Amino acid sequence: MLPKINPTTTEAWEKLLQHYTSQDYRLQKAQPEEFKKTIEALFQVDYQYGLWNTTTVALLLQLAKETQLEQAIEALFTGVKINETEDRAVLHTALRDGSQQPIYVNKENIQPKVEKELSKMKEFVEQVHEGKVVGSTGKKIKHIVNIGIGGSAIGPRMVIEALDGYRNADIRVHFVSSIDAEPILNLLEDIDLEASLFLIVSKTFTTLETMTNARFIKQYVIDRLGQEHWQKHFVGITASPETALEFGISKSQLFEFWDWVCGRFSLWSSVGLSIALAIGYEEYENLLKGAEKMDQHFRTVEWKDNLPILHALLGIWYTNFHGCQTQAIIPYNHCLRELKLYLQQAAMESNGKSVDRNGKPVDYATCPVIWGEVGNDAQHSFFQLLHQGTVKIPSDFILIEDHKHDCDEHHGHLIANYHAQIKALTQGRDLEATLAYIGPSKMDIQHRVFAGKKPVTPILLKELTPESLGALLAMYEHTYFVQGVIWNVYSFDQWGVELGKTLAKEGMVNSE
Ligand code: F6P
Repeated sequence: MLPKINPTTTEAWEKLLQHYTSQDYRLQKAQPEEFKKTIEALFQVDYQYGLWNTTTVALLLQLAKETQLEQAIEALFTGVKINETEDRAVLHTALRDGSQQPIYVNKENIQPKVEKELSKMKEFVEQVHEGKVVGSTGKKIKHIVNIGIGGSAIGPRMVIEALDGYRNADIRVHFVSSIDAEPILNLLEDIDLEASLFLIVSKTFTTLETMTNARFIKQYVIDRLGQEHWQKHFVGITASPETALEFGISKSQLFEFWDWVCGRFSLWSSVGLSIALAIGYEEYENLLKGAEKMDQHFRTVEWKDNLPILHALLGIWYTNFHGCQTQAIIPYNHCLRELKLYLQQAAMESNGKSVDRNGKPVDYATCPVIWGEVGNDAQHSFFQLLHQGTVKIPSDFILIEDHKHDCDEHHGHLIANYHAQIKALTQGRDLEATLAYIGPSKMDIQHRVFAGKKPVTPILLKELTPESLGALLAMYEHTYFVQGVIWNVYSFDQWGVELGKTLAKEGMVNSE
């Protein structure tokens, strides 16, 4: 069971309100080093530009303590059924736990099944890459089509984009998610069916979009390759194996995960098969290892140096005390362009709630809107508002320090822009400096003043590797977990998506 404490009833909350009102949270320029936190050599998060100071941090840490975060973290890692409204444990951390320590769900140690499934994935990926698993006419597999939606697509797609530099050159991965026939038909016409493998990825194996697309593509393949051949081209990935077998997936091409894997955190399970096929099993394992490093950091590092905890607390400070309703994710890296999509589901499907763990309506803000864009592109669209608009938008700026290509000029500009924007947003340019820069003759001088003091959190990755990416994603996952604990909501159900599904089904029936 998770604690059920209304955060506004804590002593820390009251003190934070006073602290905010007194405006005593200014940047402490004298202590920047203390505000830089790292995880091994993987990345650094620089909290010095946050609109907070050491007093704020201390009060927020007290808030975490009073809302019993410690017990909640223990419950998460040890398989307590913290997803109470669905009566499930939440153990995506177990999927990347290489410690061999037993973890029990309903008195069963789940580690052996996790390992078994990983071995099966490894063997399958190697066989595809070596041309031992081939299409029905003997062609080597060149196209992987992931048929899935939400957590059964967003994570794998984002990781494959991010790790483009690690991609197996002979394999292309495509994603079919929405219920829109046109792009699907276009894709099916473009690819060589005989060299294609379709992965039906669905925890439930009942999701309308996925199953409609899966049935359609199955028939398309049968019509072209023959009834006796379609199975060879289909893989099932699900927590409902019986339903997948009923669909006709062959047992040897069926991969399982379990009800204690929440869809939006499932890329660490067999849902990540498309990733492993794209970058190779070894690199997929490195992704898991990176996430495991963050899990250990989260579980063991003192809270004042703990990345997910600090990240979560800063978010709470902005949301609940500064009144920020959105948070931007700004990667200065094209490969991370889909990160925002992953974080949108991870945060908003988890904490976009207004009923607390006591079943009562909350009287405070919960999850902000997560959005964003790649840095340079964003500079030329919405950065105007970040610099001079009327809303306060905390943003995470993510930079990869090293680059693999030879284009030094490009990389130089990228880095310069990253630093320039952080400087402009945080330091601004006051009237005096603007006058000095532009000269007194200009009539529109006020329009050229930058207030500064915008909340920016720079995140600096040495390199974008499967390991550093795994750690980064796990940091955000735990951030949202911590926030859900403090907001006293159930972060691992998603009842808010149900009504629309029911109405859409009724709409289909009525129109028939
Ligand atoms: O409708 C929301 C949701 O249930 C997500 O939580 C999930 O990731 C997605 O749909 C897909 O579900 P499934 O994997 O069962 O097809």
